[in-house]
This record gives sequence, C-alpha cells and structure tokens, in this order.
Amino acid sequence: MTVATTKTHDALKLQKAKEEALIIYHELLKKSGIAITDEDRKTLFSVDLGGTHFPDEGLGSIDLLRTSRVRVSIILLLPGQTLPEHLHPSYEGEPGKEETVRVLYGKTMLYVEGKPSDNVILPKGKEQWYTAMHRNTLLPGDQYTVQPKIKHWFQAGPEGSVNMIFQNKVDETRNLFFDPDLKGCQVPSGLKFQSGAF
Ligand SMILES: [Fe+2]
Repeated sequence: MTVATTKTHDALKLQKAKEEALIIYHELLKKSGIAITDEDRKTLFSVDLGGTHFPDEGLGSIDLLRTSRVRVSIILLLPGQTLPEHLHPSYEGEPGKEETVRVLYGKTMLYVEGKPSDNVILPKGKEQWYTAMHRNTLLPGDQYTVQPKIKHWFQAGPEGSVNMIFQNKVDETRNLFFDPDLKGCQVPSGLKFQSGAF
C-alpha cells in the first residue's frame, strides 16, 4: 500500500468510526431525556479533535447557546471515551474559561490536577499526554466547576455519558491541548457556530 493509499484508507476508517459513533450519541441523547428540538438534534456531530485515536479520544457535541458572553453545550461520550487533557488559559485581560459540567445521563469521571487517584485508565498510546490524575466521579445531577488554567479531562463510564456544559464564552482557539496531534474541536462548515475547542 502506498503512503497516499494508506492515508485515504485511514481517512475512510475515521469517517466510518465517526458515523457509527453518531448513531450511539443520538441513542445516549434520547436516554438522557433532555428536551431538545429536531433542529438542535441535527447539529449533533462527532468530534475527533484532529487526532488519530477516535473513538478512544473524542466526543459528540451540540451547542445549545452561544452569545458573546455565554456558551451552553452538550458533550456526549461513548462508553469509556475520553475527552483529552487540556486547559483554558487567560489571555489579553480575559481570565479564561470557567467550565461547569453537569451530568444528565451515565457516569463521567472528571480528572483535574491534585492528589492522584487509583486505577486511572488512560487511552492506549496516549499516556504521556495525561498528567491531571485526581478523579471526581459525577453521576446524573452532579456537577463540578473547573476553574480557568486548571488541567482537566473527561472519561465516560461503561454506559457512556451525556453532560451539559455551562461556560463563559472565550476565544476557543486559545484552549491548550498538550498532545501535539490534537487540533481542538472542528465544527462542520454550514453550521451556525464557528470554530471552537473544549
Ligand atoms: Fe475544558
């Protein structure tokens, strides 16, 4: 197989994985019981963050609200899926994004900096990019606020999870992922929202 053929093959494989994940994200959304319009549902998409490890690393996402000051979104995670470690920095007088996660369905393990927890499961081949090892286990109705400049990452339990995310609006392109393979969140062209990352 030539290099070009391999790249095409990898791209097709990724596309297929994202399409399969989308079906499960829709099922999870339904299980969460959240009231949502068909129009919002159509904006649900699979995010690979520009990396190569989807579905191990990635997420599903819907933006429910974006104004110049506030953002509310839903993040969906497949069983065991990980949204990789990152932080929301301050820049040009903006103190950075404060991000609150509230679980609607399933279980989300939110890792932050602090005393390392036992039995942390990291995505295979990506271990070196994870340093925040203090686990907060969130069940439906639980919520946790991540302050700006704190390294954090998310991982779903065995049933996957659906999470509502409340955050002040910032320039999402400033968000820092540590794995150089990751480019942040892509938003398909044609959507009403512009580029962003989590
Ligand atoms: Fe975040």
